[in-house]
Amino acid sequence: MDFKEQIKQTLADSATKLGLSTGNLSVTFSNRPELCDYQCNYAMMMAKQVGQRPFDLAEKIVNGIGESENFELAVVMPGFINIKVKEKALAEYGDFLLGDKNLGVPQVEKSRLVFFDYGGANVAKELHVGHLRSPIVGEALKRLHLAMGDKTLADVHLGDFGLQMGLTLLQLHEDGYLDEFFKADADIQKLELPNVTLDVLNEEYPKASKRKDVDEDFKANADEITLFIQQRKEPYFSIYNKIRALSVAEIEKNYTKLNAEFDFYYGESDAYALIDETVQVFVDKGLARESEGALVVDVAREGEHIPIPKKSEDEPQRYKNPMPPAIIKKYNGGDLYATTDIATILIRNRDYAPDEIVYVTDNRQGNHFEQVFRCCKLAGVSPEEQKLTHVAFGTMNGQDGKPFKTRSGETVKFKDVLGLVVSKAAEKLASNGIEGDDELARKIGVGAMKFGDLSVAVGKDYVFDIDKFLAFDGKTGPYIQYTIARINSILAKAGFAGGKVKVSSVEERNILLAVLKLCSAYQVCYDSYSMNALCLAAFDLASEFSTLYNNHKILSETDNQKKEGLLSICVLVKKCLEKALWTLGIDSVEKM
Ligand code: ARG
Repeated sequence: MDFKEQIKQTLADSATKLGLSTGNLSVTFSNRPELCDYQCNYAMMMAKQVGQRPFDLAEKIVNGIGESENFELAVVMPGFINIKVKEKALAEYGDFLLGDKNLGVPQVEKSRLVFFDYGGANVAKELHVGHLRSPIVGEALKRLHLAMGDKTLADVHLGDFGLQMGLTLLQLHEDGYLDEFFKADADIQKLELPNVTLDVLNEEYPKASKRKDVDEDFKANADEITLFIQQRKEPYFSIYNKIRALSVAEIEKNYTKLNAEFDFYYGESDAYALIDETVQVFVDKGLARESEGALVVDVAREGEHIPIPKKSEDEPQRYKNPMPPAIIKKYNGGDLYATTDIATILIRNRDYAPDEIVYVTDNRQGNHFEQVFRCCKLAGVSPEEQKLTHVAFGTMNGQDGKPFKTRSGETVKFKDVLGLVVSKAAEKLASNGIEGDDELARKIGVGAMKFGDLSVAVGKDYVFDIDKFLAFDGKTGPYIQYTIARINSILAKAGFAGGKVKVSSVEERNILLAVLKLCSAYQVCYDSYSMNALCLAAFDLASEFSTLYNNHKILSETDNQKKEGLLSICVLVKKCLEKALWTLGIDSVEKM
């Protein structure tokens, strides 16, 4: 049903009859929509090869097609082929979409199992602004894969076994919260931590973290406790589990507010039992070597990690094209981030054998994942055909273009950002006469933030400007939510039970073309692991709808045929926008 494919096929058949090879024949959406819907530059590319004028060649190809049922083809100077889809074909396409369960979203040829690793919050540390993008981007990419026919699994992969746990536990101990656990006759299994609340955790960890930088003994103690936790030694392990549970409940609550839904709340701790086995794989295969007491794996390829000659003895060694060896075991036996990630891939492959694993983190972790991926391929931990992908996002900046900070220069808390977007949304709603609907305010505030985030190419930094993101009439999430709400109200007033799409006006025509572009944007996002094309296409569709709304009196239309066509288009736009929002992880709203 895809017009682009149909046109391509039609042109290719004709070109083949002329004895031309069609390997490089492609059809794209027109960049001059006032002239045509699609365009093809094939004749321009082939003319030289066959020694003809591009215009003549294009004419021959088009003349060979004759009258086409769905398209009008025209040749323009110097040799472009312009294609317009006929009204009837567009209307039929609209009707087809209304009955299609995928709503025209292209489906993958072969459904794959894609495992998503995003979120990645660290237990016992309060979430901050830097934790927003991973669940936003990760959730959208996961839904995109679902929409296109893949199967997915999502794991939040918590940082739950690192030094922060030892630090927090030690600080709590010193501040007297854990006395009961350390009494000689303590029945550890029965004990609770009634006084340790989230607020306490949020104070104790930063306190401990500052202290470790100035107090060596404290740091050494915390290291030891971290090791005890990892070795499941009591009472440390029981205390750890209680802290973990408290913190994870909060993390889950926050992610849920963002519509980030995970199949698993696993963490680094779940890979711990496999760490030794993982290291052994590299040792057995002769891939590990000792370096300054640590075990490392060389992952650099030719042309990488080349030492740059030092100018003086005390200058630090620098490298051209740096790709340092991956450290899989440290000199003191402490295990590392890379090893945990490799062990986690072992587990995921043992349990689910996904076709692809996608990691969503900020772009500072690029080297880490490159090292992990290379290690896995070298050692066969990840089969050759398995795709390992790191989606690296840029920074969310404040209005000054620097990483988002509070006025006093501190990192902004996650809950404060959420609080801000929701309260701003509530203010806007109040000025439209809707008050006291907290859930609606959350949907709109969070939707605004997510759309603002996702409409930028994923690798780029962007400026967090909530007033801009929340504008009901800009390139924003709320604008799309508003369009849907407006359609809901039209449909309710009309009591519409469904009918046939008609394309008799330029506005209807433009809407159907915008729908076609929206459908093809899914593929663009799928190929680029970035959602910006879908955001843009959804906005374009919403604004085409607004033009239709302004130029036609839908409800008071007296020609019943026309009215049915317009209302059918309303339904189509609503469904397409709802699907796009769902894919982006944004809620649609009934009214606003
Ligand atoms: N906890 C990590 C951090 O805060 C992110 C985890 C990302 N996922 C992974 N498998 N390494 O940096």
